[in-house]
Amino acid sequence: MYRDLHDPGLAPGNGGFLTALGRPDFNVFYDAGTLILIGAKKSAPFGDADCWLAAQNLMLTAHAMGLGTCCIGCSLTAFSIPEVRAELSIPNDVAITAAIVVGTPAESPGATGRKPPAILSWKKPVARRR
Ligand SMILES: Cc1cc2nc3c(=O)[nH]c(=O)nc-3n(C[C@H](O)[C@H](O)[C@H](O)COP(=O)(O)O)c2cc1C
Repeated sequence: MYRDLHDPGLAPGNGGFLTALGRPDFNVFYDAGTLILIGAKKSAPFGDADCWLAAQNLMLTAHAMGLGTCCIGCSLTAFSIPEVRAELSIPNDVAITAAIVVGTPAESPGATGRKPPAILSWKKPVARRR
């Protein structure tokens, strides 16, 4: 069952999402056909960054193929549980950074609004004299 996490009732802090998690009809993976876990060796210096870059490439490619994706950050702690790691054959030296469901979109919602970027500092380049 889909839950819009932008719904203020589900915002972290007011307990709505935890309540939704407890419902038998709520599937954190939205009944998607595929879950892709992206991980890197724990020793990789920029492992997290590598994973997120790969995640975005995956999501853009899926979109170009007419598929839908969603990051499922709330599932990540599960991939630290030894039994879950064993079940999924996740090697001991690998940390899972991104969990992304892929499926056929049930709808094609329009673009959501975007806040303007917060520019902290801007310096006009000084023209060089010759
Ligand atoms: C790091 C990360 C974790 C997320 N975790 C979840 C999640 O656990 N469950 C979920 O439904 N959506 C999750 N999302 C998706 C967001 O709720 C949101 O739908 C997505 O970022 C698109 O935002 P937009 O609708 O403003 O474009 C996550 C997004 C990101 C970037």
